[in-house]
Amino acid sequence: MGANGGTSGSVMGVNGGTSGGRGAQAGNASSIQGQGGAPSLGGAASAGTGAAGTSGGTNSGAMTGGAVGTAGQPSAGSGAGGGRAATGAGGSGGNASAGQVGAAGNSSVAGAASSAFTFFAFGDAHTGQSADTNTTFRTAMTQMQLIDPLAVFAFSNGDLVEDSTSASWNAHDDALALGAFHTDVAHVDAPGRYLALMDNHDRGFPTERSDWFTLWSQHLPAQASLGHNGADGVYYSLRYANVLFIALDSIHPSTAQTSWLSTLLASSEAKSAALKIAIFHEPVYLCTSAHPPFADGLPWVDLFEKNAVNLVLVSHTHTYERTCALRQGACQSDGKGVVYQQLGPVAANNFRSFDMPNASVSGSDAAGKPRTDSYSCSGAGGILTTSKTNINDFCLLRVEGCRIIGSSYEVRTGNTTPFETWEVDGCR
Ligand SMILES: [Fe+2]
Repeated sequence: MGANGGTSGSVMGVNGGTSGGRGAQAGNASSIQGQGGAPSLGGAASAGTGAAGTSGGTNSGAMTGGAVGTAGQPSAGSGAGGGRAATGAGGSGGNASAGQVGAAGNSSVAGAASSAFTFFAFGDAHTGQSADTNTTFRTAMTQMQLIDPLAVFAFSNGDLVEDSTSASWNAHDDALALGAFHTDVAHVDAPGRYLALMDNHDRGFPTERSDWFTLWSQHLPAQASLGHNGADGVYYSLRYANVLFIALDSIHPSTAQTSWLSTLLASSEAKSAALKIAIFHEPVYLCTSAHPPFADGLPWVDLFEKNAVNLVLVSHTHTYERTCALRQGACQSDGKGVVYQQLGPVAANNFRSFDMPNASVSGSDAAGKPRTDSYSCSGAGGILTTSKTNINDFCLLRVEGCRIIGSSYEVRTGNTTPFETWEVDGCR
């Protein structure tokens, strides 16, 4: 256990080794599912039951999976698939049919998925900030393709670009090709999708640009069909296999967005999910004075706690840390709480320090009642189970049934060894 003061809850630090075999995955079809291998914790990687595809997309791999009856629900079948980098040349799925795209702002991924799959998550690319930043993001993309070419998607958690100019967007898009991630409509339901959240820099920096949403939409056309996509906010959900992903917009908090979240979490789509993962840019709990806490996120935290959200991925502070399983800002010894993984900057190099031993955040809960969460960042009872700064990093997350196994990698040319592997146990 990666315990900090004995209160790490469901977070377990797992040292060494790489996680997971690679599941076979479709190159182009929207309804093929792969069956990955069991994750390997603290040891050598295990083989998947599906043979791994490669980036060429013309390979085949035996795989389980197949037809999709209703939104996101896998059913038996068989098929063969190519790798993520395929440009439509992957194998065809067995008895595949398209899934459904939900209404009312929710999107179920068109296509089946196994209960074991991987995806990348990172934040603060800030392309356009400097030549070094652009290079670092390209390095990270190349690493991701080396580490897991079959990851089904990547979540880019805000501050994709430094200032929302065309130059910064072009630098961003150039790098994506190295990671074989796709933003186009043709890949909206295919493996290798690039799914973005937004925050302040994506609107223009240091001042907001009038054309930011036009540029955002031009460079991220596929996700326009997911949920709410407007200048007043970009938030959406998607169901993949047994996981409900909830993407929120922390630079445009609103009662409308909170109401959408509340409705989503009360839905059968949410209730039937084995795991719920939320992702947005600004952290509610933080241990650096570089930014204020995202107090407008407290109603979301309240909803997360009441609806058994397992993991929240945040960014923004240009530090890397993870909390114990939290409720009301306190570690839960039974592990039944929400783990907050702070993604370090994948490419930005203006790192911050942990300079707040104690902190609090005040706002309101989902019902509008005042709420203040006070917490310690260090020492016995501190909420952090791990913390690092001065590091560019990204995470590969493997979903295995009701468990999430995270592997965190430093951005470094050719590096395929995680500096930390960790787990969130949603089986409790
Ligand atoms: Fe940032």
